[in-house]
Amino acid sequence: MINCVINELLDNEYPGRLSQYTMIFVLAGFLDAQDPRTSKHSRRVSIYSSVIGCRLNLSDEDKSTLRLAGLLHDIGKIGVQRALLHKPDRLTPDEINEIRKHAMFGYKILAEVPELANVANFVLYHHERIDGKGYPHGLAGKKIPLVSRIICVADSFDAMVSSRQYKPIISPYEALEELKTCSGTQFDPEIVKIFGLYLKDKGFNLSEISPF
Ligand SMILES: [Fe+2]
Repeated sequence: MINCVINELLDNEYPGRLSQYTMIFVLAGFLDAQDPRTSKHSRRVSIYSSVIGCRLNLSDEDKSTLRLAGLLHDIGKIGVQRALLHKPDRLTPDEINEIRKHAMFGYKILAEVPELANVANFVLYHHERIDGKGYPHGLAGKKIPLVSRIICVADSFDAMVSSRQYKPIISPYEALEELKTCSGTQFDPEIVKIFGLYLKDKGFNLSEISPF
């Protein structure tokens, strides 16, 4: 799957965007160094987001932007202390607030690149919730950009099915049930429905979707 995405990027993207990819791979390299686990997570989020975008029949340009935003959604963690990202124990409320700053850090990093201004905006809002209880700005419903709503679902799904230091891994089926439970409060119901249908089509076999 990742080879398909890379080939599509190289073959079909606008020539003027190639310089952006140079910048993106540099940024991704920084994130790799900061937290290799997050790097693989970002690639999976990009792929899950991409399949949702395909099912929503987004334009090629929007799908390209979606993949970039998925890949870079946690780039702001570069600005978070490594000790916090790797802390084995539960985080305190102050520490949670520190980590939450990564959405704004990511926005500020990407907004420095004029061609990535829209990606920066989508990264800023990837932790907003449909009910307005997310961060950093508490946007609600359709005020949250569609790309950010897609990344939110893909991000949360991968967090649930991937290993964490103090959280158990749950099955893709159980993760989908959790997404459904929080549909309409944390997540956009239409996006959860579309992703759920995709997972069912793939028999909940994640190795068919992402090699990471
Ligand atoms: Fe994040």
